[in-house]
Amino acid sequence: MLNTIRTRAVLLKIDFILSSWLHLSLPNGGAMNITNIKGYLKSSTDTPHFQFELVQCSPTYFIFFLDLIPRKDIVLHPDYLNTFYEDSQLEALRKQLDTQVLEAKPYFSSSLYFRNVVSPTGILVSITCEDGGTTERAEEIIRDNIDPIANEVLELWMDSCVCKGGTATIEENERDQLEKRDPIIKSRAIEMDFSSSMPIQFGQDVADIILGIIRGVFRI
Ligand SMILES: *[C@@H]1O[C@H](CO)[C@@H](O)[C@H](O)[C@H]1NC(C)=O
Repeated sequence: MLNTIRTRAVLLKIDFILSSWLHLSLPNGGAMNITNIKGYLKSSTDTPHFQFELVQCSPTYFIFFLDLIPRKDIVLHPDYLNTFYEDSQLEALRKQLDTQVLEAKPYFSSSLYFRNVVSPTGILVSITCEDGGTTERAEEIIRDNIDPIANEVLELWMDSCVCKGGTATIEENERDQLEKRDPIIKSRAIEMDFSSSMPIQFGQDVADIILGIIRGVFRI
């Protein structure tokens, strides 16, 4: 029964989920791995989107981003801040990573737009492992700290954003706002995540085909 309810909620609320793993060879001989999972919701709900990103810049240096992306102005809608951020476990999980992984430092994206999109409890850190180039500590952090926190935030998203309703019934004008805002969020995400990296990795022609398909799914 619970499963049926969950399945129905998932079908009704989730617009789509995009997950990708990109391995990029860099001109300097190095390589990067970028793992990405994004969950976008439909405009029939105003609950936050899900985003996970792990950018492994080298075997001992990576950037971790995990957030439930707000879809409403939290200055105008304090109940939204309260429901999804203050009354949730997000801040506790952010602190948990901070105390468990001493190597984690706040990361400032070069995109000011991106810094503004992230929620107040968003995790955005860079982690440098000082273990002389071995991958052991990095693997340990990903397995023991990042994996459980990411799973908890995903569970939280499923429970409070996908399976439960938004903060109120969506008014017609609010839906218009969401329909205006969501495509911008999605297209900026593609631009940041794929538009520059894909041509480097696959060449412009193949990149154009893949980006075209992604844009089709994103409907932008
Ligand atoms: C990227 O992934 C490959 C395959 O799992 C792995 O061999 C390599 O070490 C990774 N590189 C980085 C920088 O994490």
